[in-house]
Amino acid sequence: MKVLAVFGTRPDAIKMAPVILELQSRPGVQTICLSTGQHREMLDQVMTMFRIKPDIDLNIMQHGQTLAQTACRALEGIDQAIAEHQPDIVLAQGDTTTTFAASLAAFYRQTTFGHVEAGLRTGNKRDPFPEEMNRLMTGLTADLHFAPTRLARQNLLNEGVNDDQIWVTGNTGIDAALWIARQPCKMDDEQNRAIDWPGRLLLVTAHRRENWGEPMARIADAVAQLSTQFDDLLVFVPMHRNPTVREALKSRLEGMDRVVLTEPAEYAPFTQIMKRADLILTDSGGVQEEAPSFGVPVLVMRETTERPEGVEAGVAKLVGTDTERIVQEAKRLLTDSDAYAAMARAVNPYGDGQAAKRIADTVLR
Ligand code: UD1
Ligand code: UDP
Repeated sequence: MKVLAVFGTRPDAIKMAPVILELQSRPGVQTICLSTGQHREMLDQVMTMFRIKPDIDLNIMQHGQTLAQTACRALEGIDQAIAEHQPDIVLAQGDTTTTFAASLAAFYRQTTFGHVEAGLRTGNKRDPFPEEMNRLMTGLTADLHFAPTRLARQNLLNEGVNDDQIWVTGNTGIDAALWIARQPCKMDDEQNRAIDWPGRLLLVTAHRRENWGEPMARIADAVAQLSTQFDDLLVFVPMHRNPTVREALKSRLEGMDRVVLTEPAEYAPFTQIMKRADLILTDSGGVQEEAPSFGVPVLVMRETTERPEGVEAGVAKLVGTDTERIVQEAKRLLTDSDAYAAMARAVNPYGDGQAAKRIADTVLR
């Protein structure tokens, strides 16, 4: 069997790596790894960590790339790879433009497509933008849907997907997170400062397109206020490489004493910092899934989430992007030990670390 595994961004790589490694360990399977290179440095770090070398690298990233440019370049390159290698199945994960392009290319070539992390929905096609639409469109063409949770399966059933095309597998991101947390990890000086900080550690990540502009400015203002109000608090902010995001964060937070504005952390140190953190503020999908495994409360700085399982389990809270609201919710957790204890519980609503095995079993069947 020939499998074409497609990825292009940091989360694609993290969530596809366990599937690729699992398939590579199975006899009789040839796994061809295609990177669109939608991301560069942030992707390469992850691939190095998992020791996966792409067989094909489309290297499409351009600074200031538009969604359409990314989609066109990825679609064309994946199309050529399918034509050349004639895979039995194409696999990609989640909701990035790389993933949508992979599903469309497979459909046009009448090749089976398996969607890893299928069925996540907010119900609002513009939020998150463009991810909700990417995953909806990917779901329309997919033949095999690997739903991480029962709720994701139900979303697909509600849209008319046949039950026998859906497998509830857990999220491969949890496989990756549990693996990386056990790996040796080299920290730089700023990361060591965070780990060794004698007080409390606040980890912040923000990058979503619907948060660009005013919402990102409000998020940065909230971070600044929290840093000023709690003098035992170190705020660690690994900035996404996207120039729009970096500018917004830098213009408001640069030069603050206990705010570490830094480059994207490699996956292993990032995980150690996540485990060390007392509180996480994020708009990231992956971080929302990982943090509950480590018992760290998460405030989700978004208006919607396609990952309500953490909220329902009481370990994550949707707080939007209003400065006052973010500050008030964070303050509550930093001052009320009962409220904090209620959220700081290690639960795994997104997976048990065995998702890749289940996906590989199904693909081979
Ligand atoms: C993309 C995904 C988003 C995912 C996020 C994870 C789409 C439409 N968006 O958003 O779903 O949550 O990745 O991080 O697929 N850049 C670099 N180096 C890198 C990565 C990015 O310089 O390693 C810069 C480039 O200037 C690039 C820009 O960031 O043009 C934007 O990258 P892009 O992939 O278009 O969007 P993201 O915001 O990263
Ligand atoms: N991550 C990382 N370094 C960072 C920030 C995040 O390795 O500095 C990891 C994080 O552990 C998670 C993934 O990147 O697995 C999430 O990626 P991102 O937030 O970029 O995308 P999303 O999940 O929102 O699509």
